Amino acid sequence: MSKTRAVIPGSFDPITYGHLDIIERSADRFDEIHVCVLKNSSKGGTFDSEERMNLIRGSVEHLSNVKVHHFNGLLVDFCNQVGAKTIIRGLRAVSDFEYELRLTSMNKKLNSNVETMYMMTSANYSFISSSIVKEVAAYKADISAFVPPNVEKALKEKFNV
Ligand code: PNS
Repeated sequence: MSKTRAVIPGSFDPITYGHLDIIERSADRFDEIHVCVLKNSSKGGTFDSEERMNLIRGSVEHLSNVKVHHFNGLLVDFCNQVGAKTIIRGLRAVSDFEYELRLTSMNKKLNSNVETMYMMTSANYSFISSSIVKEVAAYKADISAFVPPNVEKALKEKFNV
């Protein structure tokens, strides 16, 4: 029987417990999960792609079926490259819906064989985003509830706090 593979794409600048929640729950349901750092043209960057990948790797060490990549191109092309027909995205609130609908519709136009599935982020993490965590980290707030310890360390170093 062929393996079930899914791609979890994102900016991951940096990975948060919200992302990790989606990765862990997906890893329990698919044989292989490919987490991929991609470029979101409407976002700037705090960490470079290599740093983002290393922070993800350091956060998913306990998940043996998760691989971490970086791809400089279209998400659907990455899906083809790893042989995945499923994209998984986390949904935090209704406010995410419009953006996700546009993303999914475009990906469907680009490659109709790739299906996007949505998973509701666990309630504990529904308010977390990388940008809001970075904002409070820059003001020396305690971010240990929002990001894994390796990411907390990296953010403290980045913001010299
Ligand atoms: O974490 P994000 O920023 O919401 O993730 C968005 C991301 C990176 C998945 C999206 O911007 C993306 O897929 N970028 C790669 C380029 C691409 O395929 N664009 C077409 C879909 S809009």
